Amino acid sequence: MRILLTGGCGFIGSAVVRHIIRNTEHHLLNIDCMTYAASEENVASIADDPRYQHQRISINDSASLEVALREFQPDAIMHLAAESHVDRSIDGPGAFVQTNVVGTYSLLDVARHYWNSLEGEKKDAFRFLHVSTDEVFGHLSMDAPPFTETTPYDPRSPYSASKAASDHLVRAWHHTYGFPAFVTNTTNNYGPYHFPEKLIPLVIINALEGRSLPVYGKGENIRDWLFVEDHACALVRAIERGVPGETYAIGARQPRSNIEVVRKICALLDELVPDPAGPRERLISYVTDRPGHDFRYEIDPSHAEKCLAWKAEHDFDAGLRKTVQWYLEHKDWWQPLREQRYDGQRLGAKK
Ligand code: TYD
Repeated sequence: MRILLTGGCGFIGSAVVRHIIRNTEHHLLNIDCMTYAASEENVASIADDPRYQHQRISINDSASLEVALREFQPDAIMHLAAESHVDRSIDGPGAFVQTNVVGTYSLLDVARHYWNSLEGEKKDAFRFLHVSTDEVFGHLSMDAPPFTETTPYDPRSPYSASKAASDHLVRAWHHTYGFPAFVTNTTNNYGPYHFPEKLIPLVIINALEGRSLPVYGKGENIRDWLFVEDHACALVRAIERGVPGETYAIGARQPRSNIEVVRKICALLDELVPDPAGPRERLISYVTDRPGHDFRYEIDPSHAEKCLAWKAEHDFDAGLRKTVQWYLEHKDWWQPLREQRYDGQRLGAKK
């Protein structure tokens, strides 16, 4: 297949790019406009492969997108480009509406015209995968059953509202125009190349630097953690087998409270690189809660597991160990991000 993928220099996108080039025969055009969270280094290991190319184009730039589609002639589009950090969406929601809602509209519109220009088998086989989040379903109480494909939408943050809007657009394009699109909604990802503003990389790096580990509220909030390489595998299965109009809810069956996650990272670091000053749990600092903080996300992935013949390979302990080891071995990747581009003001600042 010839796959056009958006957001391939970000965290999840680059995992998909690496997976496709290493494990399949597909050709890939990565469309990434390189926002703060993107890096060429995330795809450096496969960038010289003749099946890979990257163009620095925004999904809001319809004219350039149109040319890219016409020239590359994709069989499928995987749409991963998005603003994704909830705290940033609270501080500045405009970028989330612009990229996640307007950008998805602009990509859908150009993609539909391209699809209309195709004929015969190429047109019938064309697929558009929109990669989304489980946060569109709102949040769960402790006892509620996990989200499934039929859970009603109830987004509660500017981020999740913008993703919900984009999901609705994609489904409307399918129902109204017959556009062969489908959606995946996935739980929290973690793993190598995760930008150090998110909980897991932030805690690993802060703990290594002996800085405080900011836990929002009481640390009781629960996330279902999926190792990013397992997610990449699921998305590739989805683009190869996904049925237009379908939804696939992808999760790892690995729910953990934030405080459990933070404690586990501390224990792993204490084992791998002991700190002469003492156990890292001493660095945990409970800080002011995130406004409107969603309590619990969890997915029942049964439908996706069955339809995509996929299952997350890593349990949380195995995936976290790999992740911590990766951050220990890749200081050259995260140190410049911390120094040049990441404003760490929030770290433990709000006691
Ligand atoms: P995050 O990685 O931002 O992902 P999301 O909000 O999309 O789930 O946060 C994961 C959880 O960790 C979430 O409940 C908020 C919490 N959190 C902290 O307690 N401290 C932090 O410094 C950050 C960034 C997140």
